[in-house]
Amino acid sequence: MSTLACPASVIEDVTSLTECSIADFPKRMEPGNVLMCPPTYFTVETVQNPFMDGKVGTVDKELAGKQWHALKDVCTKIGCEVKTIEPVENLEDMVFAANQVLPGIDDDGKLFALLAEMRHEKRRQEVPWYRQWFLANGYKVLTLADGLEADAPVPRFEAQGDAIWHPSRKLLWGGYGSRTDKDAYPIISKLLNVPVILLNLSDSRFYHLDTCFCALNEDSVMIYEGAFDKNGLELIRHFFKNVISVSEKDALNFALNAVSINGSVILQKGSVHTVEALKSHGFTPIEVDTSEFMKSGGSVFCMKMMVY
Ligand code: ARG
Repeated sequence: MSTLACPASVIEDVTSLTECSIADFPKRMEPGNVLMCPPTYFTVETVQNPFMDGKVGTVDKELAGKQWHALKDVCTKIGCEVKTIEPVENLEDMVFAANQVLPGIDDDGKLFALLAEMRHEKRRQEVPWYRQWFLANGYKVLTLADGLEADAPVPRFEAQGDAIWHPSRKLLWGGYGSRTDKDAYPIISKLLNVPVILLNLSDSRFYHLDTCFCALNEDSVMIYEGAFDKNGLELIRHFFKNVISVSEKDALNFALNAVSINGSVILQKGSVHTVEALKSHGFTPIEVDTSEFMKSGGSVFCMKMMVY
């Protein structure tokens, strides 16, 4: 729901945006807490993305546990309450808590949780457990089917892996290509009453938007340019004043699968240039080690979900 200067549905390129800037979108309250799922049953079992290639059976469980607790401690230290969801046996990817639900707050201040339609059969089984958690925590649960005719096919949608809120604004960035179907976004835009900016992801290494796009605050974003097309890059530059480009090397080290909370940016260790760039833009980088989770194609951003 933006002012008349801005499109109200999906936005695919900058042509209709001459009069529209980020200040035209209503303010949105940011969630300040974190939901995580202990890695009790975490393993790499089947190859679902290029990072998992050659990693089946190689997870060091004890180390994974230590890394998970260290990340949880950092989140607590920077002022977030960390809530946890009970892990479920045999659902090894349930630890990637960003993918099952897109939480938000509607125009009346009511909390909602839009459920994912995961691409992989095994991961679809995680969603009902998250649904239960959100219901128990006062959220209204929505599904894509709510926005469709009874027999219409339901598009794939991987929640916060691909749909990322613009910090503090009622505006969504929607990645599609590998996991989420483009068709999901007109439905989501209508269902949530928010415009969605579409970003085509065609490099299979950057299979979720959260692997190549990290919103730092209302004005700033870090991206790996190579993951986007010309339209996508124009859109990102239109809405963010500061676009920090990171190298392919750092992007493949999951530097962009980071989370920015109150000026601190928690990210996988070892991305020297990204850390320098963050400091020079006034952010406080906090490096953690998520090596075991990277074997599954995930790092900091996808190991947690921001909740109210
Ligand atoms: N193995 C998981 C998958 O392929 C990793 C998910 C990581 N999450 C993310 N948002 N990038 O689905």
